[in-house]
Amino acid sequence: MTVEKVNKIPAMSHLPNEPISVMDAIYQRRSVRDYAPGQLSEATLHVLLYAAVQAPTAMHEQPWAFAVIQDRNLLDRLSETAKQTVWLQAQGEDPSGLARRSVNLISDPAFNVFYNAGALIVIYGKPLGPFVAADCWLAAENLMLAACAAGLGTCVIGLAVPALNSPEWKRLLDIPAEMTAYAPILLGHPAGMPPPPPRKPPELVCWK
Ligand SMILES: Cc1cc2nc3c(=O)[nH]c(=O)nc-3n(C[C@H](O)[C@H](O)[C@H](O)COP(=O)(O)O)c2cc1C
Repeated sequence: MTVEKVNKIPAMSHLPNEPISVMDAIYQRRSVRDYAPGQLSEATLHVLLYAAVQAPTAMHEQPWAFAVIQDRNLLDRLSETAKQTVWLQAQGEDPSGLARRSVNLISDPAFNVFYNAGALIVIYGKPLGPFVAADCWLAAENLMLAACAAGLGTCVIGLAVPALNSPEWKRLLDIPAEMTAYAPILLGHPAGMPPPPPRKPPELVCWK
């Protein structure tokens, strides 16, 4: 996708199905880890990117930039780097650490951190103040809810963050050194929907 292609507000008719309500999208969104083969159209990606940038940002900075990766070979290589990076991190962690808890998964040579999804969108933040991470994650949730409303599956892949922020991968993807990868989001046509993991009720610490 070129920059020119995303410089126009897209028509919602590019979405594969009739949109559902925001509340339905919030409750129906699941982290999908099983994808049917097939790519997403540029028009669909375009709609989702525009949904992402409708998120609120501190001082209206809009401090983000997006990478869209659909190249299977590149995704497979990035998955391998992600696994190596997490494995190295785990060596210095105590057993409760996140990387350490992922070691069984990433030690399986057949495991692909991207679950063979058709696309990965990475939301990068520019160094524009203390709320950049929050801004990027708000954009991430917008994108995931819009994808859910369009019948698509998504999954945040935190395991890929250290690899994406390595100088090697920034160079390979032409990402400016000063940007930080916050939210790698898988996208694709779900092959199946997982059941909703149970939620804790909201813990109230104050209601005056
Ligand atoms: C910051 C963040 C990082 C995550 N990283 C991964 C990941 O690396 N791999 C994965 O399969 N799921 C990952 N997830 C998905 C969570 O496991 C998932 O959101 C959680 O189990 C709840 O399931 P649900 O999204 O279907 O409600 C991540 C989610 C978040 C918010």
